[in-house]
Amino acid sequence: MTGNDCRFLRACRKEEVDCTPVWFMRQAGRYLAEYRKLREKHTLLELCADPELAKEVTLQPMRRFDLDAAIIFADILLPLKCLGLDFEFAAGEGPRIHHPVRGPQDVERLSAGDPRQDLSFVLEAIRLVRGELSPKAALIGFAGAPFTVASYIIEGSYSRNFLQTKLLMYKHPEAWQALMEKVSEVTLKYLKAQIEAGAQAIQLFDSWVGCLQPDDYRDYVWPHSRRIFEGLKEYSIPLIHFGTGTATFLESMQEAGGTVMSVDWRLDLEEVWRRLENRVAVQGNLDPVALFGDRSGLEKRVDRVLDQAQGRRGHVFNLGHGILPQTPVENVEAVVEWVHEKSRR
Ligand code: CP3
Repeated sequence: MTGNDCRFLRACRKEEVDCTPVWFMRQAGRYLAEYRKLREKHTLLELCADPELAKEVTLQPMRRFDLDAAIIFADILLPLKCLGLDFEFAAGEGPRIHHPVRGPQDVERLSAGDPRQDLSFVLEAIRLVRGELSPKAALIGFAGAPFTVASYIIEGSYSRNFLQTKLLMYKHPEAWQALMEKVSEVTLKYLKAQIEAGAQAIQLFDSWVGCLQPDDYRDYVWPHSRRIFEGLKEYSIPLIHFGTGTATFLESMQEAGGTVMSVDWRLDLEEVWRRLENRVAVQGNLDPVALFGDRSGLEKRVDRVLDQAQGRRGHVFNLGHGILPQTPVENVEAVVEWVHEKSRR
């Protein structure tokens, strides 16, 4: 088997597979004891910035489970460095950006660094992981989509109602435009560098885009996400477009780009295939909370996802959003086995 012929990449390309591939968003993280152990000694940013440690964390879930893809251990906020923004992960609180962008002057002061230099450690980690990963598993690179990254830059942390983000968009549309252009430019360069370092697929995380109404998505976000996908086309690798709460503008999100659409549990997969007319592969969409349930309840929910996929070409089994820190490890292991066994062709 050559590296490009593995189950995950075949499914992304809508080719025939022996069984449905499976991986989990946030599969490296606090629900694993071996991750928590490393975190006692290092901060999250230290883990990201040391290619050996990032490699180790990336491979931790691969050693435990029969996963079909690894995702490089990094964070969507790392490219903020290239924009000259300082941030930290405050214990138990999530990200804090030190001087959030609130108006046109703040946008002007952003720098345009080079991800190949500022984030060279991620690229090195990709090379190290690819050197050790089994050829049966693919390596996924990633970045945050412009909207989701901009929302952190503007709010300074996670937000419930995205008040500041929408205010900048509505009151200062030119500054919004300029900010999205700067974020997109850095993101595109960063993703190209990841592919050149060995990433075999890319996922663009638009985690919070579902807070928008469809018109605003079209007017203020779509062109920027599209620019990134267009810029990556030349590499001809799978491009996964992820969002949550995107049921109201799924079609327009898909038109922005991506060869695999990743959806959450609020949508039925059958509806996704029908609405997208089989143009792309589909990733998803078990509710991460299902992993906390008893075995029979969990098995039913896994079956339902597989039933809705009906063994179609182009299904990648995943969660609808990331694994939660308290997730029971044995349930993760069971889901990987079930997906492979139950979908065996
Ligand atoms: O295994 C993997 O999925 C790869 C690693 C990865 C991380 N962050 C490491 C991380 C990935 C793919 C991300 C993406 C990311 N980061 C997203 C998009 C995906 C999503 O969940 O919507 C977002 C929105 C972020 C921003 C971010 N990073 C937040 C909001 C937080 C705090 C919330 C939390 O879970 O604690 C982080 C911290 C972070 N990034 C952790 C990990 C493993 C938390 C664990 C820790 O502190 O050790």
